[in-house]
Amino acid sequence: MNNQFENLLTKYKGEGPYLYIDNQVMIDAASGTFNLPLGYTHPRLNEKLKQQIDRCAHLSSSYTHQMSQEILKKLLPYLPAEINRMWLRDVSGSGAVECAIRMAQKATGRSGVITLYMAHHGQSLATAQISGNAFRIRDFKVVIPGSLKIPVPSNIENQSDDYDMDKYIDLDQLLEFGSNNNIACLIIEPVLGNGGNIVIPQEFYRYIRDFCDRHNIVLVADEVQTGFGRTGTLFASNGYAKSLNPDIIVFAKGAGGIGIPIGGVLMKEKMDVLEAFEHSSTSGANPLSLTALNETISIIEDEKILDNVQTNEKYLREGLFSLQDKYPEISNVRGLGYMFGFDTPSPAFAAQCIEMAASFGLIIRGARYGKSATLKVRPPLICHRAHIDEIVSKLDKTFEALTRTQTQAIA
Ligand SMILES: Cc1ncc(COP(=O)(O)O)c(C=O)c1O
Repeated sequence: MNNQFENLLTKYKGEGPYLYIDNQVMIDAASGTFNLPLGYTHPRLNEKLKQQIDRCAHLSSSYTHQMSQEILKKLLPYLPAEINRMWLRDVSGSGAVECAIRMAQKATGRSGVITLYMAHHGQSLATAQISGNAFRIRDFKVVIPGSLKIPVPSNIENQSDDYDMDKYIDLDQLLEFGSNNNIACLIIEPVLGNGGNIVIPQEFYRYIRDFCDRHNIVLVADEVQTGFGRTGTLFASNGYAKSLNPDIIVFAKGAGGIGIPIGGVLMKEKMDVLEAFEHSSTSGANPLSLTALNETISIIEDEKILDNVQTNEKYLREGLFSLQDKYPEISNVRGLGYMFGFDTPSPAFAAQCIEMAASFGLIIRGARYGKSATLKVRPPLICHRAHIDEIVSKLDKTFEALTRTQTQAIA
């Protein structure tokens, strides 16, 4: 009997947005690993999953295709007009991003991928290579020929949706003189998640849509973090980032509702180019994942979760701005939906905040693997105003305690 394992496992118990660790209760303002829109547990989804596990946890993909198509029908009203196909063969965001790259490469006959400096697209060899955070790939050798990284157009300071494109690099010139003209796709997170909750100005979406159209480059929205309601619409591509009008949308994380692994790709018909043997994985679209995905969509609809996020977005923003007004250590509050971030004086300070917040029963997370001074606040989407009050009040206590400690240290 492996008692030690059992002891470790049963230490943790979730309930909606709360995580109980032994006797301590924590409100999770990071939604786990940004993958728990419905919290750690959701009675209706839990029940469906239990029923399914008693039937079977695995079926080969030849049996599940029709189920995926039924789920696609439910997603259609939330998708940009021409996106009407789905490839559901992954259990992770990294796998799904690779699927999108494969589609773009096969459809265009080119190989390169354009991504943003602060992007995060995954952990696999290829997706880590095209992400920012270059320290992660120092020791690993893989190259997607022709790939380029471009700077992030950021309006963090003035919080405006417009962007002066004259300040940005000329992508046409970059393509002509700085590349071998071998670009298959441009991948962008509508809000850069791991990079520091950076809200991309809408003007930039229009600019890259036009650029991709003129050069026949496939535009991919990596909605692994922004998908499934995080920004107040089911996908950012159907809300704040509408003008991106992507050819492919990648999703994972929140799609499993309470953390059930699933990853997939939604695409325009012209991108439906792969043969089954060209991209799949053993557990892709397994019945548990499909149950989670299907039920998550229904719960989002029945419990009016998008309305909840849209209604309380302002409340959360104002709560964070009130803290910014109070503490000089907080700056650049930014975000949309339930996807917010702000800057602190340094990565070391951010790490202290995370630790101090935990002592007050609050889970928050940093960015860029602890190398950033940004902190992120992204509660589960089921959170109401009372939860937001609790999160803001615990953040207040955190900063009060930290700034008091610092003042004492100076005195
Ligand atoms: C925007 C984005 N894309 C892709 C991924 C990779 O997803 P996964 O960790 O499920 O492979 C992540 C993970 O954090 C992500 O944030």
